[in-house]
Amino acid sequence: MPLDLPDRRATRRDLPWPTRGLAYGGDYNPEQWPESVQREDVALMREAGVNLVTLGVFSWGHLEVADGEWELGWLDRVLDRLHENEIMVDLATPSAAPPIWLHRAHPEILPVSRTGVRYAQGGRLGWCPSSPVFRRYAVRMASVLAARYGDHPAVRMWHVGNEFGGGNRHCYCDVSAAHFRSWLTDRYGDVTTLNAAWGTAFWGHRYGSIDEVLPPRDSESAANPSLLLDFDRFSSDALLADYQAERDAVREHVRDRPVTTNFMVQEGPGVVDHAAWSEHVDIRANDHYLIADDPLPEEEWAFGADRMRGLDPSRPWLLMEHSTSAVNWQPRNRSKAPGELMRHSLTHVARGADGALFFQWRQSVQGAEQFHSAMLPHAGTRTKVWQEVVELGQAMRALGEVAGSTVAPAPVALLYDDVAGWAWQRGQKPHHDLSAAHAARDLHRALWRRGVTCDIVPPHADLSGRAVVLVPALYLTDDATAAAVASAAASGARVLVTYLSGTVDPDDRVRTGGYAGAFAALCGVYVEEFFVLQHHETVAVRTADGHAGTARDWTERVHADDATVLGTYAEGHLAGLPAWTRRAVGAGAAWYLSARLAESTLTRVVDDVLADAGLTAPAQAAPGIEVVRRVGEGRSWMFLINHTDRDVPVAATGHELLTRQDVAGSLTIPAGAVRAVREADRAG
Ligand code: GAL
Repeated sequence: MPLDLPDRRATRRDLPWPTRGLAYGGDYNPEQWPESVQREDVALMREAGVNLVTLGVFSWGHLEVADGEWELGWLDRVLDRLHENEIMVDLATPSAAPPIWLHRAHPEILPVSRTGVRYAQGGRLGWCPSSPVFRRYAVRMASVLAARYGDHPAVRMWHVGNEFGGGNRHCYCDVSAAHFRSWLTDRYGDVTTLNAAWGTAFWGHRYGSIDEVLPPRDSESAANPSLLLDFDRFSSDALLADYQAERDAVREHVRDRPVTTNFMVQEGPGVVDHAAWSEHVDIRANDHYLIADDPLPEEEWAFGADRMRGLDPSRPWLLMEHSTSAVNWQPRNRSKAPGELMRHSLTHVARGADGALFFQWRQSVQGAEQFHSAMLPHAGTRTKVWQEVVELGQAMRALGEVAGSTVAPAPVALLYDDVAGWAWQRGQKPHHDLSAAHAARDLHRALWRRGVTCDIVPPHADLSGRAVVLVPALYLTDDATAAAVASAAASGARVLVTYLSGTVDPDDRVRTGGYAGAFAALCGVYVEEFFVLQHHETVAVRTADGHAGTARDWTERVHADDATVLGTYAEGHLAGLPAWTRRAVGAGAAWYLSARLAESTLTRVVDDVLADAGLTAPAQAAPGIEVVRRVGEGRSWMFLINHTDRDVPVAATGHELLTRQDVAGSLTIPAGAVRAVREADRAG
């Protein structure tokens, strides 16, 4: 039986934030410990300044011990103890971890891989997003919990499941296949339209009926990229329907508390379409982990935070999970350096998060995550981690007054899209080592170094009022987005479109007549051919005023039909042809960048775009100093994060919240430290 398609009930924006001030705490899994340890937990939580814990995320097997048999007494006691200690609770529906008894009774709920193998019990998210059987059990469990705890005074927020799709993103079973076909019928109506949208004339893969369509199961040769893309879209929607079913079960009993789930917004395209999901959570929440081998992790933290904020810059969001130190799922799990925890957490607060939570409160001694860091480490409280957790708790209290404020309107919007990322990632492509994230991070890094704030927004975001609009590698672009970007330029924005943008339409069909298709007319260029570079290759480029630079990874054969050439290729097959261009458009301009430029060369281009837009870097943005401003109710706060190992003086006047000092004109940010100044000389 096909399941219902996702409903479109919107976010409830007016529900109270779960804590007074900023939220601080983490996932709390007390079922792993005896009650004596649980009593110690709350005492230490108070010492650390914890005011919110996410409870029960993986507790299904401890709550429903057999089909319909509930043991809720332990949860009652934990909730009461937390309440007595004034620690608020984000209560989870534990659907991310189905119990063993459920898998044994209904092995058909386990997802099936591309190769047709049904996964076994014992992992996480072991359920098919289209399974009506799983749905029935999950909704029943959510209803039982919501009915019992909906009025509990400690429960201030509901947390449905955990990281939807982070383990069951795609299921290729027959139930999923039927659900996929019903989704396709909804999208295309009939098989003729589907055949046209997918270009099934290629290899003669024309379908006689939508009933003949299968998910993109394993095959030795390449699959149709339009099919791959639609399966990604469908999978995101199928998971969203699961989220909605549980959320609605909770809302039946709980009307005045926000319901959410945690996203995984980092640099790459998501496992779900976050822009679409964002409309269905009452508070947007994110999990953000340190990537150990990232050469510039602090910029990646900012990138993730700017993406979360960009989903709706008008409201604070919540950092639902990050780590106090090392994780356990990367090849080499680096511990955080002293001070890095504070910088990572407060980067998110500076960029609009009204809280910072961790996975998890107490480090597990057993189980799959026994070597993942936690707020309370194996070694106990005589540790760097614990000391920094306590210091961060103090900092979060000291910063309490920023709660409810938002980041000052960003002059720059950077368009970034999970769906366009999938389209570029799936199927055979000219370049398999270059992702949309590379292009987006390159531009973001240049702005980050200048202290220019940028909202990373989905394609359909309102662009009005932006001084600069960046369109990095937006491979799939619909006509509405292209029109909105063109109209932003006409109204005065400086638009920078990079290589790969506008290449295909929403059906994943190449726009003919020259690449950059959706943006070609706006930029006044005609892109004839891609010239992909090998790992070891670089190509010299030159600016119109004679500066030398470098391109790597990607170049294109471009003609400036109706644009001024600002940079050219200086060697190789493309020597003398444009590398980047500018076209005056109405009150603004459109730039086209055809190459992945080395950092110093790209910085020059971005500086030119900023200058063209009349944007200047804040005076405080010295090298390695991150500057972000939050504003609200007539006040403003300047966050300053020192990523260097030197003390750096900056200009500031007001009151510094973390050291509780008045500042008159100048403030020294100690090496590796964070400061937040309530500004005396600015209105919010
Ligand atoms: C998250 C997950 C947590 C924990 C964490 C470890 O993705 O939600 O439950 O597993 O990763 O880094």
